[in-house]
Amino acid sequence: MVNQDDLKRQVAEAALDYVVPGTIIGVGTGSTANMFIDALAGIKNRIEGTVASSEATAERLRGHGIMVFELNEVDSLSVYIDGADEADAGLNLIKGGGGALTREKIVAACSEKFVCIADQSKKVDVLGKFPLPIEVIPMARSYIAREMVKRGGEPVWREDFVTDNGNQIIDVHGLQIIDPKGLEAELDHLPGVVTNGLFALRPADTLLLATPDGVETLKAAQ
Ligand code: 5RP
Repeated sequence: MVNQDDLKRQVAEAALDYVVPGTIIGVGTGSTANMFIDALAGIKNRIEGTVASSEATAERLRGHGIMVFELNEVDSLSVYIDGADEADAGLNLIKGGGGALTREKIVAACSEKFVCIADQSKKVDVLGKFPLPIEVIPMARSYIAREMVKRGGEPVWREDFVTDNGNQIIDVHGLQIIDPKGLEAELDHLPGVVTNGLFALRPADTLLLATPDGVETLKAAQ
């Protein structure tokens, strides 16, 4: 039987085909993104460099001798390659299991193309089984938690975790997200929310999904 790490490695290696030579690329965060970074090391001389979506990713990239730029130093990124916690048929995503959602969303926004890499366990019909992470300004935590209860969620404070931006995370369980774009926009308007983990207003352009039979390439259903 193929284990999940093997699937992650397969899809991470498949993503090398999407690296645009001579450009700066965005790199995501998490165990699948880490495997992509390790694979990228083998072709590092073909790119100008990277922008990292977290301190952990920057450290791993530098550890491989891969150039890391600050986002403010670059005009645009050819492609952003990152994992996800859940993906639906529209390539709407839940991200932020690793707590890097805000920087991930910023880097994705600056990228011409977003290639999501995941193993088949991440593909769902309806988003929400994976708890939705919300990065909040610390003083707003309880307020946002109450707002999520009003929306049918069960918020859990991710204690002992501080984001790279110095904020806190609430993981909201029990949601069935039938309108990902609507909920993403609604939550972003609550005062104190820095970012929510829905990537639907800017979904992935391509989802590479690792299965025991190989890597499938999915495009968003129009
Ligand atoms: C980090 C993320 C990750 O992409 C997501 O949690 C998936 O991680 P993994 O590849 O370890 O399953 O959004 O904030």
